[in-house]
Amino acid sequence: MRLTPVLPSSVSDTESSMMDKAEFDRFADAYDAQHRSNVAVTGEGPEYFAEYKIRLLRKIVDRSQLEVSQICDFGAGIGNSIPFFRRYFPDAALTSSDVSERSLALARQRHPGSGESLLIETDRIPSDSNRFDVVFSACVFHHIAHDEHVGWLRELHRITRPGGLIAVFEHNPLNPLTVRAVNTCPFDENAELIFPRTLTRRLQASGWSSPHIQYSLFFPRALARLRPLEDVLRWLPLGAQYVALARKA
Ligand SMILES: C[S@@+](CC[C@H](N)C(=O)[O-])C[C@H]1O[C@@H](n2cnc3c(N)ncnc32)[C@H](O)[C@@H]1O
Repeated sequence: MRLTPVLPSSVSDTESSMMDKAEFDRFADAYDAQHRSNVAVTGEGPEYFAEYKIRLLRKIVDRSQLEVSQICDFGAGIGNSIPFFRRYFPDAALTSSDVSERSLALARQRHPGSGESLLIETDRIPSDSNRFDVVFSACVFHHIAHDEHVGWLRELHRITRPGGLIAVFEHNPLNPLTVRAVNTCPFDENAELIFPRTLTRRLQASGWSSPHIQYSLFFPRALARLRPLEDVLRWLPLGAQYVALARKA
């Protein structure tokens, strides 16, 4: 796990967001190839990991008996989750948001007609309040300076309707193989992983109710026959990733 470089105190929140933007504008065109090569050791491609998250989100939504007609993908990148939102939430409208203009352009090019695209240019998500049933993010917060997490979680709380759900998928720093993968991934050079308990505390601090963690991705392809067990292992802090879940009261 690498340490995030400390920004000089003169750098404002907006300037720091602009640095994030430049960071992923730089990686956008090579993102798919780099991601594919980084996860190859697991025997799976990026599609497996993207589908896993959305399939799990569908199960969580069904268990919560939540009506979902509007979803926001915060930090959608080049749109890897889009085909799976279409498959598992065919009736929901999808909004893809990101600070990287180049990533959003690639997402539109790869998946035309796949919903609204929101460019985040300041410390605000350009959307109405109380709009979304589900706000989702996949591997985004470890790219955001930790002292900005509560601010972005508050902003996601603002755009979520009362009763809505947040699902923040993150790499698990308690899993040594995950830490190794992050340390060898070019676009993770500035990543700072987040301990699950830290994220639940930050969710609470930003107004979310009943935050809790489920662990995911326990078995590589070589052990695929054990994957049906994953649903009973969600409590075990050894999965390669985890999802932090909470509701807006
Ligand atoms: C590792 S990529 C993940 C992309 C996508 N979620 C996926 O699973 O393929 C991280 C993304 O987070 C975006 N990002 C970084 N800081 C952000 C912020 N403050 N708000 C929204 N997106 C941000 C980056 O531009 C990048 O597209």
